[in-house]
This record gives sequence, C-alpha cells and structure tokens, in this order.
Amino acid sequence: MTAPDPKTKAEIEDQRPAAPPGLLSHDERNRLIQRGVHGLYRWYLSVSQAKRNWNPDLAFDWRKLRQDHSADVHRVIEGFFAVEQYVPDYTELLIKMFRKEHGRSHFQIRWGAEEEKHADLWYNALLFMRQRSPEWVRDYMQHLRSTAWEMLYDDPIKSTAYVVIQERATQLNYLNTALLAEGKMAGFEDDADPVLAHAAKTIAVDEAAHYNFYLECLRLYLYYYPARTLEALHQVISDFAMPANRYIPDFQSFADALVKTCIYGPREYARDVLQMVLDNLGIESRRALDRGIKASRNIPDGDTGELRTSAFFTFFDYEVIEDAVKRLFTRVKGFEAKVGFDALDPTVFVPSGMGSD
Ligand SMILES: [Fe+2]
Ligand SMILES: [Fe+2]
Repeated sequence: MTAPDPKTKAEIEDQRPAAPPGLLSHDERNRLIQRGVHGLYRWYLSVSQAKRNWNPDLAFDWRKLRQDHSADVHRVIEGFFAVEQYVPDYTELLIKMFRKEHGRSHFQIRWGAEEEKHADLWYNALLFMRQRSPEWVRDYMQHLRSTAWEMLYDDPIKSTAYVVIQERATQLNYLNTALLAEGKMAGFEDDADPVLAHAAKTIAVDEAAHYNFYLECLRLYLYYYPARTLEALHQVISDFAMPANRYIPDFQSFADALVKTCIYGPREYARDVLQMVLDNLGIESRRALDRGIKASRNIPDGDTGELRTSAFFTFFDYEVIEDAVKRLFTRVKGFEAKVGFDALDPTVFVPSGMGSD
C-alpha cells in the first residue's frame, strides 16, 4: 500500500462539505450521536441482563392475585393489557426506522422483548383476576390485534421525543398502580393486593430504564441539533396522547378509571410527566418552550439553522444538556474500559462547538 498523494489529500479536503466555523459537519454530528447511542446500548444490555431479567409467569404468585377488585381497578388493568397488545407494531416500526443504526436498532429489539413481557404480565393479571373468562380475554386480544398500530411520526427525532414522554407517562401509571395496590390511594384502600403491587413495581422499573435510554438519545439530538430537536419536541408535546387511544374500544372508560383512581390524568401529565421531561432537558417550562419557538420563527433559517439556534439559547439551558451528554460519554467510557474496547475503539466525546466553552 502506498502513501496517499499529498495533492489528492488536499483535493479531498476541498470537497469536504463546508460546516460553519466552530461547528461540526452533519456527518460528524450523526456519527457522534450514533456512537453515543451504541455505547449506551451496550451498557444498557449489561444492566438489563443483570438486574431486570424477570419472567412474567414465574416471578409472581398469580394464584394469590385477588379476584374481587373494584370495577375501576379492573378497568385500569384491562386498559394496560390493551395498550401493551400493540407491542409487535411499536417494535417493528421502530426497528425499521433505525435499522441502519447499530446501537439504536439493537436497542429497539431488546426494548420490544422487554415490552412483550409487559403484555404477558397483564394477560396473566386479567386471567387470574377472574372477572373475565379466558375466552373473553382471548377474543378481546384478537379484536385489539385485528388493527395494526401506525407510527405517528416518520422523523427519528420526533419519534424519540414521543417515546420519551410516553415512557415516563407509562412509568408513572405503573408507579401509581403500585401505590394503589399497597392500599395508599384514598378511596381505594380496599383494593390493596401484594401480587398486583409487585407486578406493577416490576414493570415500573423497566419503564424507568426505557425512559432513561430514550432521554439520553433525545439529549444527544438536542446537543448536536438544538433547533431541530426543540421544534420536534414542541410539535410532539402539542399533539401528545397515550399510544393506541384510537384503537382501544371504549378508551374513554379506561381514561375515566385512571382519573378516578388518581393513577393518571391531566394533572399528573402536566406535573409529573411533562415538567419532568422538560427539567431533564434544561427547559424551564412548556410556556418558555412555546415562547422560544415563536421567537425563533421570526428569524430566517439558513442552511444550518444557526441564527435560530442562537434564539433558542435564550430560553433553554444548553449547559445542562452539555453536562448530561458529557456524563453519558463518561459512563460509556467506564463500561468500555471493563470490556477492553477503550484500548481498541473508544467512544470519545467531541464538543458540538455551540456551548460556552
Ligand atoms: Fe411497557
Ligand atoms: Fe416501556
């Protein structure tokens, strides 16, 4: 192999797509996002296998599940069961969307396998609650599965923003179900059920892990593509609804039961879902995001969206994101050192050039 001709090298440099001074090219940003997600996934897999490898049939004492829950609690469980029946669609569509990205596509396969256990857990819960016959549960499942869930967005950043909110909402639903099953929800003390509490807590831990994974993905997008990501987040928040609400028969009675049991409603969504997501992204409030989006729309957007980006910096804390992304790369570095990747092909943080340093 001969050394490259210096002229050819210079020519290659000339042809490199011009990025504004101090900013990384789109290719470089995409590479960094994908390296970060891939490193995160390898770490995630190790934790998932070590700590969350539970079995939906054997991890719970199903025969001891109560059979006399109140109608509202039963309706809630039936609703959870219904939402999780669309797992094959959620998984298939996300794998397809990210199939070219090593870490993210492998994560979607793993995520689908974890969500599939949730579907089977709620299937078992419905059967053992015995308020519906096994035939009824099977027929209901067939009915739900006769319609395929369709992806709401064809854009990877919007899809990621959506799952961040959705996973946090799901986690909150299960955490509050666990509280209810521990007899801690006013008016529903008589529904206390240790088996249900154990089941809901177990799933809530998975949902927290999913939320954190998607949140890190969204932070990477936000760090390397702030304007585009804030626009995407703004749109997703504007039309957010729980998944499958269009497909589940009599969804309203499920939503009503969630509100009545204090498990989930508009107040919980605003305070414990949306505000938490915004806090984790360095955004003060929904109103601040609205204002920033409005202000940025008055600024002409060039090829790079640079001017818009500087308008966004007035209402969200870019340093929060930069610190979070640095922490992510440090976590990945630690995991890679355990395996030996650090000496071979380390994942290295590169500043976006948009921060203060
Ligand atoms: Fe789930
Ligand atoms: Fe999940």
